[in-house]
Amino acid sequence: LSTTEVDLAPVAVGSAVTVMWRGKPVFVRNRTPQEIQEARQVPLSELRDPQTDQSRVKKDNWLILVGVCTHLGCVPLGQKPTDPRGDYGGWFCPCHGSHYDTSGRIRKGPAPANLAVPDYNFTSDTQIRVG
Ligand code: FES
Repeated sequence: LSTTEVDLAPVAVGSAVTVMWRGKPVFVRNRTPQEIQEARQVPLSELRDPQTDQSRVKKDNWLILVGVCTHLGCVPLGQKPTDPRGDYGGWFCPCHGSHYDTSGRIRKGPAPANLAVPDYNFTSDTQIRVG
């Protein structure tokens, strides 16, 4: 399938789901107000791959990412409540220690770039189509 539909209704604030799209994991996180605020207060000058949080989302709380580390392609941890999320509260790649923030931006470790945002659209208030 070249597109994947995701029902957002069951994904509570502060939780996440992983879906497959074109053979890759896609992370869907319903961010808390605090996570959004943390992502937005970081100065761009502190970022290795400078992108505003606003440029990476279509709705403030929904963060949609390709779950593939931009270093060597491992799947970062951070989707399950029990996962380590790294020093910036987003995702942690255990392969070589890359830390991503609550916008999926690289903050520490060897990865050169932010977690990618796939093409997607909201098809209703509670549904997205990835791809
Ligand atoms: Fe993620 Fe190397 S593959 S840090």
